Amino acid sequence: MRTNHCGKLNKDHLNKEVTICGWIHRRRDHGGVIFLDVRDTTGIVQVVVNPEYEQAFKIADEIRSEYVIKATGLVEGRPADSQNEQLTTGEIEIKSTSIELLNTADTPAFPLDQSSEVGEDVRLKNRTLDLRRPEMQNNLRLKSQLTKSIRDYLENNNFVDIETPILTKATPEGARDYLVPSRTSPGNFFALPQSPQLFKQMLMISGFDRYYQIARCFRDEDLRADRQPEFSQIDIEASFVEESDIMELAEKMITESFKKLLDVELGTVPKIKWDKAMEEYGCDKPDLRNPLKLVELSDIFKSEEFKVFSDPANDKNSRIAALVVPEGEKIGRGQIDRYTDFVKEFGAKGLAYIRVEGEDHTGLSSPILKYLSEDCLKNILLNLNVTKGDLIFFGAGKAKVVNDYMSRLITRLGSDLGVLKNGYAACWVTDFPMFEEASDGSLTSLHHPFTSPVESNVEELMKLSPLEINSKAYDMVVNGIEIGGGSVRIHRKEMQEKVFDLLGLSQKEAQQKFGFFLKTLTSGCPPHGGIAFGLDRLAMIMVGADSIRDVIAFPKTQSAVCLLTEAPGSVKDESLDELHILRKED
Ligand code: AMO
Ligand code: AMP
Repeated sequence: MRTNHCGKLNKDHLNKEVTICGWIHRRRDHGGVIFLDVRDTTGIVQVVVNPEYEQAFKIADEIRSEYVIKATGLVEGRPADSQNEQLTTGEIEIKSTSIELLNTADTPAFPLDQSSEVGEDVRLKNRTLDLRRPEMQNNLRLKSQLTKSIRDYLENNNFVDIETPILTKATPEGARDYLVPSRTSPGNFFALPQSPQLFKQMLMISGFDRYYQIARCFRDEDLRADRQPEFSQIDIEASFVEESDIMELAEKMITESFKKLLDVELGTVPKIKWDKAMEEYGCDKPDLRNPLKLVELSDIFKSEEFKVFSDPANDKNSRIAALVVPEGEKIGRGQIDRYTDFVKEFGAKGLAYIRVEGEDHTGLSSPILKYLSEDCLKNILLNLNVTKGDLIFFGAGKAKVVNDYMSRLITRLGSDLGVLKNGYAACWVTDFPMFEEASDGSLTSLHHPFTSPVESNVEELMKLSPLEINSKAYDMVVNGIEIGGGSVRIHRKEMQEKVFDLLGLSQKEAQQKFGFFLKTLTSGCPPHGGIAFGLDRLAMIMVGADSIRDVIAFPKTQSAVCLLTEAPGSVKDESLDELHILRKED
């Protein structure tokens, strides 16, 4: 239908007759001459239509934005004063001799070059239009290249691509399941996989040695900018491996992809132990572009009279975290109040601060100085690396709460003060605890229940203090976003049963939910481990998008609906009858 693509034309094509196809990006009528910017997936080219070509001119006169045309003409150089450096085709134009109207279009819901001014719901409702924008085209192309790069890497390393079921049983990854009623087994439901976790482990038991899959996963959970109810994982599992084997392999896969697609050197990815990440960043997804860090100061407040600090200093579940803001003198009182309101949204009772206005403790100034002893002030300076002009914030209280709001404060200050380093900063977070305590005192897995504990004294710790057990789990984080996580797995049935037991699963429940899997563990299960990366999150970070929806062609909104198709939709009573489902009467 065409001889060339719009965006690929340049001076090499001068004086050649070409035929291009595409959409009308813009039409300008300069009284007598009509200029058309014609766009296809490769870019935009200018087509000039003179009245002497009557047929072409008549069509050019009538066409509007987003009409689809085919245009033929001669490639000519543009006069020097009308060249457009913004366009790769800016030095040439097509002098059209004929135009064919391939299709008309309704007035677009929004002009394509003004998408930033329309709400995202308008973009999602008119997604086919939105996807025509060069930015979205580039995002999805990069994601396609990323998938290819990952596949090439894994295939070259002898990984076998194996599909696992979508209609299956629940896989616990911490979210609610999407359920599908079964017509043929009345009253029973399939669950869509939250991940292929159990299947990939069973593939190791089946002797495949190395498995991968770009796997669709489904999770009914609260959505955020980096979460979708359905998303893709680069899912990996290997046999006869230790933590370091998987981490090395995965790190190489990610660093090679960054190099190949973005020409970015991630370098050797540093490893941070979970404990240290919590202590210094208040979270397990530190953004290493941000130089701001927390310092634990509980010890120096233990015998102070100021209860706001001494109470948490003497409680093992609490902490006092100091955050030094270099040159914080620039932050005025009003701004400190705004930061205080911000942390209060996340459970802080207040946000104490001290300004460093001199060389020693006599040069400190703060509304809380009057509550603190001279020794304490001296100790603050001994423990913190501060200079004149710095500002110190303090978060005191239950460690979980302080970590949450102080890590958010670090993120907010990082962007407010513009101190984030450019580019990408990756890290591994390792040595995660095996369990955490839920608010009702029960234990939950920090990763998932198939993660292997670190073996030393595990039997004893399981009895006495399971919260102290560490796991063989690892996450990879880029720019403060968790892009992947995995672990060495439990490969012995007895250990798996003990973990289920600690998680409060009765033997009967464990059998009912995972009996099929437990059985396979006794059929000769090799030691194995793996990892899964969020493909969409990785693509989002690589293209520099703020939302995961910008790298998914047809995403769902924050309330998990598709505005384009209006899914989920209602169903007729007959369909429910067939599925043995009764409609609940309100
Ligand atoms: P995990 O639950 O950490 O591990 O998921 C792995 C990676 O998948 C991505 N991810 C998501 N991306 C978009 N939307 C979501 N709702 C979403 N949830 C998770 C993240 C995350 O790091 N089976 C284990 C992996 C393993 O142990 O091998 C698992 O699923 O980038
Ligand atoms: P108060 O005695 O509650 O007036 O608090 C004195 C100072 O300590 C104020 O600046 C509060 O913002 C701050 N503050 C109170 N509670 C906390 C806390 N849990 N962590 C950090 N600062 C606090």
